[in-house]
Amino acid sequence: MRRSLQVRLSQLLDSGPFPTRWAFLYRLGVVTAIFLSTGIAVLKTVPGFAEAFGHLPSLIQQAAMAVLAVDYGLRLLSAWLLSGRGRKGLDGLLRYGLGAYGIFDFLAVVPLAPGLAMTLPADWITLCGIAGFLKLARYSPALETLGAVLRREARPLQASVFIMTLLALFASTLMYFVERDGNAGFASVPQAMWYSVVTLTTLGYGDVVPATGLGKMLGTLTAILGIGMFALPASILASGFSEEIRRRDFLASWHMVARVPFFATLDAGQIAQIVALLKAQHAEPGDMLIQAGDDGDCMYFIVAGQVEVAVGGGARPKPVLLSQGDFFGEIAIVRHSPRTATVTARKRCQLLVLHRRDFRKVTDTNPALREAIERAARDRLAQSQAAGPEDGQKNTAATV
Ligand code: CMP
Repeated sequence: MRRSLQVRLSQLLDSGPFPTRWAFLYRLGVVTAIFLSTGIAVLKTVPGFAEAFGHLPSLIQQAAMAVLAVDYGLRLLSAWLLSGRGRKGLDGLLRYGLGAYGIFDFLAVVPLAPGLAMTLPADWITLCGIAGFLKLARYSPALETLGAVLRREARPLQASVFIMTLLALFASTLMYFVERDGNAGFASVPQAMWYSVVTLTTLGYGDVVPATGLGKMLGTLTAILGIGMFALPASILASGFSEEIRRRDFLASWHMVARVPFFATLDAGQIAQIVALLKAQHAEPGDMLIQAGDDGDCMYFIVAGQVEVAVGGGARPKPVLLSQGDFFGEIAIVRHSPRTATVTARKRCQLLVLHRRDFRKVTDTNPALREAIERAARDRLAQSQAAGPEDGQKNTAATV
């Protein structure tokens, strides 16, 4: 009982990229509640908003927060059930509650805590509504990616922060010496710091400007140095981001390839080569992936989901179902012929696509794969031709 509740809860709360129908609806509900709660918190700060709409926005916000409170409760229960009974359960509860996601989940519902709704100042309610947006981090890898980039690029970032601080400090001190007489914006080094930072970052508000010729020359130099130096962290972060995303894509593709039994015999080097050549693709139920008669330039491996191949043509083609581990679209690649059947997604699918130009690269280094694909193409073609358009079709799904 406890175990089945725990399994159901983790299916509902922590489903991966392929959630069940219920998990998908649940996630949709929570995400909608987050948008409503945060959106209304933001809009309530607009003067006249409350007068124009009365109590309605607050009621909607409270309903949205109630949904988030149920989500928080279920997550607490799941953390307790997952970690075990007694002391262990408490540990699990604390790990979730004091972790980043637990804190985000908590902040989103603070205003609903008994006794707080009436007493909490309006600004705090606004802040909690906006902090609730952080709950979305669970459904998007953006924050995790940022954290990973900051950790990996910590050294170059530290170096560039040091250089920037040095520049700001020297520029402010020099400007202070040159401009302090009669220019209130440079009356002290900290005050001159505002000018230096605004100039180095190329913002240039223009509220504080040097008056002397020497000060203007220094200001010019500061602005030029700023362009070079302050661009440094931006470029470090940009290249770190693209590197991290490439790494994550590679890992995700690696996991997908490892899930296809067809590639089970490959060693790490061969998988790495294939990962670089395969592209991930999603398909929703009803999406047509291949149309009979079209030219084909790629084949597909099914990582998850199910497709239907309409074999036989004619008025009543016979459906053949292919699922995880199967592949399709190989006939056009192997035989350089048009597509022999129409293939449509039956369930939500996660696919790996291998382009015709890469097919040789993969199979040249792996003759066994080539042989298996060619054999499947031969068998399927023979079966389709033998069955004919009106005939019954046996399931010829090829899982190698
Ligand atoms: P292709 O002809 O490139 O595009 C349609 C695909 O449907 C085809 O490759 C095969 O992968 C698949 N297909 C065709 N006939 C059959 C069959 N009898 N059984 C299973 N799959 C088939």
